[in-house]
Amino acid sequence: MTTHTQQKSRRKPTIWAIGGGKGGVGKSVVSILLAMGIANQQMKTVLVDTDLGGANLHTMLGIKTPVRTLNDFVTRKYNTIEDICIPTQVPHLSLVCGASEILSLANPQYAQKTKIMQSIASLPVDHVILDLGAGNSYNVLDFFLIADYPIVVLTPQPISIQNAYAFIRNTVYRKLSRETSQQTSLQHIIRSAMDPKNESHMRTFRDLYQTVRKSHGVKIANHLAGAIGTIKPMLITNMAKDERDDNAARIIKLVAEKYLTVQSTELGTIEYDLLIDKMISQMTPFSELSQGSIALSSVERILSELRIVSH
Ligand SMILES: Nc1ncnc2c1ncn2[C@@H]1O[C@H](COP(=O)(O)OP(=O)(O)OP(=O)(O)O)[C@@H](O)[C@H]1O
Ligand SMILES: [Mg+2]
Repeated sequence: MTTHTQQKSRRKPTIWAIGGGKGGVGKSVVSILLAMGIANQQMKTVLVDTDLGGANLHTMLGIKTPVRTLNDFVTRKYNTIEDICIPTQVPHLSLVCGASEILSLANPQYAQKTKIMQSIASLPVDHVILDLGAGNSYNVLDFFLIADYPIVVLTPQPISIQNAYAFIRNTVYRKLSRETSQQTSLQHIIRSAMDPKNESHMRTFRDLYQTVRKSHGVKIANHLAGAIGTIKPMLITNMAKDERDDNAARIIKLVAEKYLTVQSTELGTIEYDLLIDKMISQMTPFSELSQGSIALSSVERILSELRIVSH
């Protein structure tokens, strides 16, 4: 007879992806805080550093030289992601360290990514949190698109708002481009719509929809609209210092709805926490973050509103 715990651990884990385009907005900090907030409730959690260029989560968690990294999985030294998980000082939280070496492997990387994604999806844990790198590369966008909780981190600065919107826009076009990968003529229209100055004057998804409807029929146009409907970004404004800072996410929500027909959710703000800034400059591991941290409290509020943890 299987126990409740065994049944639970055989279920697929809930996957979170923490992205946002711009560097330095706090994707890694937010990933660690979410992971700690979940692990603190005794749920088995794995944090994965998918930043293939600038892996640094291990340093933030006080691990100097990772003994195993994603590279060991990709190069088949280990068979599963579970084999390369490293325990951390935080109970119930393990880490999969990133590996810059993967960058040097040839770029289609799609097969590698699929392999990583499949092994992540079969981890015998409750939650997996993917810390995405900066930018809008296919690596980043593809991980974002598989998540149950696709989180976009931004800060209240206008440049970060622009970047977060651009990130969502790029996920939309990546999704459309994957949906139409076998149809060259459709791919051509989608690529052209991505260019803000395109000659067909496609400025919004509705314009693209009309163009596709005319050229390929309503069924295909509706299929693309349906594909967009599956993208549901969740917005977190990090390093907030003022109550009005949550306007940043509201702007993105409105603009993404208007131009891309994407429905996003605002998850609220994480406060700027001097403790965290100090810990990072002094290289103090996050496991020593006190329960009184205001940023951790903000994250716990978000988790409880999402009903991931109860308070
Ligand atoms: N809530 C916060 N309170 C105080 N400081 C913060 C907070 N979040 C992030 N920071 C500061 O911002 C810096 C950048 O954060 P982080 O490394 O998480 O960004 P990132 O988006 O992961 O960057 P990259 O794209 O380079 O990976 C941190 O070193 C820290 O000093
Ligand atoms: Mg980072």
